[in-house]
Formats: sequence, structure tokens, C-alpha cells
Amino acid sequence: MIDIHTHILPGIDDGADSWEATLNLARAAVSEGITTLIATPHHANGRYTNFASEVQELTRLANERLVASGIPLSIAPGQEIRVHEDLLDAWQRGELLSLAGSMYVLIEMPSNHIPTKMEELIHELRVMNLTPIIAHPERNAEIVKSSDRLARLVDRGACAQVTTHSLLGGFGKQIEKTAWSLCKSGLVHVISSDAHHPERRGFRLREAYEAIGRRMGEPWADYYFANAQCVADNRDFGMQPKVQVPSKSSISRLFSFFYRP
Ligand SMILES: [Fe+2]
Repeated sequence: MIDIHTHILPGIDDGADSWEATLNLARAAVSEGITTLIATPHHANGRYTNFASEVQELTRLANERLVASGIPLSIAPGQEIRVHEDLLDAWQRGELLSLAGSMYVLIEMPSNHIPTKMEELIHELRVMNLTPIIAHPERNAEIVKSSDRLARLVDRGACAQVTTHSLLGGFGKQIEKTAWSLCKSGLVHVISSDAHHPERRGFRLREAYEAIGRRMGEPWADYYFANAQCVADNRDFGMQPKVQVPSKSSISRLFSFFYRP
């Protein structure tokens, strides 16, 4: 399994705070069957600044440590880039990273609103042959209120990544509900952990794929699973499954048909 959004590099954001924590998180990933993950430290979010060159060097050191510790995991460099005025110029200056050197860039909006120039930014990134993946839209207040807000961004060429913990209820009922609703509306392209800490906020990737298989059908779990690999391989995402996602009402109708008193 591939996880495209993690905070595994030590001491540079609110994820792993030491090499020991990095290795513990790496062991947790391997125990869940993850073979490759992309390190996406926060960048330009007002609290953390992690330029491309620093992330690349730390990723190289992390892979050396993994080999030395006999942990069968590989880490590729990336960033979780906060939307900011200087983003396009920062890209031209070489300060930003795509995910694992692919055409995909992970961008983060503030949690309380959608920036006014978001659609313009998506357009500009697409013109530069980059595909923005919006990190955890299910945690954005405006999208929680109306999924149409995300639909507009997807129409402009953005993709979206929902977090395992959101689907599994780790951020509360409302975010759980939004996460499933966005997935069922076909507005989500990839699932990842946004892992920060093995116990407090780990991976739960397999668990999330299993839940998706149960609630939306196996083709959807396969679709998300394959798309994470597409990011690592720099390939276009696959076609979304054409299977009908069962709604709650259709399941209860079926249930009442078979279990009539
Ligand atoms: Fe993150």
C-alpha cells in the first residue's frame, strides 16, 4: 500500500518529533502493509516552513536510517503546501515539491474558509501541468456546509484526498458524515492517513479501504488504492467505478424486504 500524505520526517512540523518517532511511525506503517509513503511536512502554513531542498535531504537521511534499521519501507519527498499568495512564485523559485516528483501537488486550504483565489490558483497550476490534490476537504468549514464548494474546485481541475481518520470517525460525526458524502459523490480521488504519531494519529489505511469496500463496494476501494499508486508512479488517475453506491434508504428497503415480520 502507498500512503501519499504523512508527517514522518523528524522535528520539522507537528508530526514525528525525533528520529526515534520517525522509526516508530515507519514500523507502524510496515505492520499495516504500507510499502511506500510520501513525506509531506507542512510548508508555508504560518507555523512551519520546510523548503524543498531541506525536505529532500531529510528524506534521504530517513531512507538511510530505515535501511540501517532493517525497516522495509521507502519514503519519497513531498510537502503539504498551504495556499498562500506567493505559491506560484515559490514554485518557480524551486522552493516547492510535488508528491514523489510526480505531477501531483498536495495543497492545504485553511480549515475555516476557501481562499478567494482558489479557483484561479487551480487553473494556474493546471496550466503548469501540475494537478493539485486538495488535502482533507472534509475538514474545511465551507465544504462541510456545502459539498458544491468542492465540486466547483474539482470542476476546475483539482483532485481531493480524504483522510482515513475522518472516514473512521476520528474527527467526530460531522466530519465523518462529510467525508463519506464527498466520497459517495465522486468528488474524492485518493485516501491517505495524514499520519502524525503511531498511537495518537497513525495510519488506519487498510481499515479505511475495508470500510469503503463495505459501504461503497469493492470497486471503489480498488479505485482509491490504485490512485495512490498512480501518484507514486506519476500516472493519471483511473476512471471512477460506475457502480451505484448503495444509499441508506435502499439498504433499509432491502432489509425490510428480507426481514418482513
Ligand atoms: Fe497533513
